[in-house]
Amino acid sequence: MSTSAVEWKQGAGAPEWYTAGLPHIWLPYAQMATARPPLPVVRTDGCRIVLADGRELIDGIASWWTACHGYNHSHIRAAVERQLVRLPHVMFGGLAHEGALTLARRLAALLPGDLERVFFSESGSVAVEIAMKMAVQFWLNRGIHGRTKFVAFKGGYHGDTTGAMAVCDPDSGMHALFGGLLPQHFIADLPRDAQSTAALTALLDRRAGEIAGILVEPLVQGAGGMLFHEAAVLHTLRDATNRHNLLLIFDEIFTGFGRTGSLFACMAAGVVPDIITLSKALTGGTLPLAATVASTKVFDAFWSDDPQRALMHGPTYMANALACAAANASLDLFEVEPRLRQVAAIATALEQGLAPCRRMRGVKDVRVMGAVGVIELDRIDDIESLRARFVAEGVFIRPFGTTVYLTPAFTISADELAMLMSTVVKVMGER
Ligand SMILES: Cc1ncc(COP(=O)(O)O)c(C=O)c1O
Repeated sequence: MSTSAVEWKQGAGAPEWYTAGLPHIWLPYAQMATARPPLPVVRTDGCRIVLADGRELIDGIASWWTACHGYNHSHIRAAVERQLVRLPHVMFGGLAHEGALTLARRLAALLPGDLERVFFSESGSVAVEIAMKMAVQFWLNRGIHGRTKFVAFKGGYHGDTTGAMAVCDPDSGMHALFGGLLPQHFIADLPRDAQSTAALTALLDRRAGEIAGILVEPLVQGAGGMLFHEAAVLHTLRDATNRHNLLLIFDEIFTGFGRTGSLFACMAAGVVPDIITLSKALTGGTLPLAATVASTKVFDAFWSDDPQRALMHGPTYMANALACAAANASLDLFEVEPRLRQVAAIATALEQGLAPCRRMRGVKDVRVMGAVGVIELDRIDDIESLRARFVAEGVFIRPFGTTVYLTPAFTISADELAMLMSTVVKVMGER
């Protein structure tokens, strides 16, 4: 039996479902032989995670940035319950339902420009795959062959499926092992200064005929290290794609729905992409759902009486009715509750609350954008111990790489946020 299985079996006081089930679970992003056992959760409420032994943790990361209204919001719950009784799911081939069509209409109205056509799927990685497939076929449908590659960026992360892995940063993107097996794209430096802009221009001048589009996480590269860039970078990319007649794809799976301070990062930047991907906070963290939204120009390239020009994609659970009900309810909350004001208040609090870390040994940078607060360290020697230290202090924060970060629910109370920040400052000060 592996060490971790022994540890799980020994989990003092753990519920029966936990000890019986854990030996059959394969955990995400974990070396199973050495990973610490996960915490058994029995309930969530607002910004709290309740453990089987009765401990309550304040959640600092909103379940991988999804639960933007906190957990168990009564409005979302009621919508999902109503939907469950009436129509939990129907296939989307040949059938349509109100939740999906209403959600598509609402997303199109919220997004800038003519991002009008919504293709639903069930995870962020798949939404990215679909965006890439759309972009490649966009050129084929126009009779232009050979444009099968993408330009993506160092520090970028777009998911764990094969196509998405191939556009992640080959080093920080966690998929270095697979390098040789993946389709080869161009992974460039973001055009932040004269040198990197010249390098991108040179690449496009030489290779544009092979390139379908440029793919970027606007304003914040999330899982690649919570790296920020200026809106000017996105303007440079829009200009470059216009000049070379390429598609521009924004992956807003992390940044979408208020996280960086505006509803979508593309709005803050004032740049409209040709395709945008959304997921994570789309359902307020309740159910899995993703969307790839295409501009009219992209959609029109598929509009034909030739069946070969259709987009041949259709995940079994696409536009799941429960997930669409949750997403519509989540959008209601953005309309009726002051989410973007809450994000602005969180940003101010994070700036002040994390500031003491700036002077600490081993801290390279402290940065805040919207409801994203980041402390970048020179190194983290024992990440599992650091994570456990936070739990011991009553907070759930999950550092990765060299980064300790907070991405709380927008509804977090001032006291809960203060507790998260003072714990970060305390634990960082112990290093
Ligand atoms: C920007 C971005 N794109 C894509 C993904 C992949 O999403 P999923 O984990 O739902 O497949 C993530 C997940 O962290 C992400 O942050």
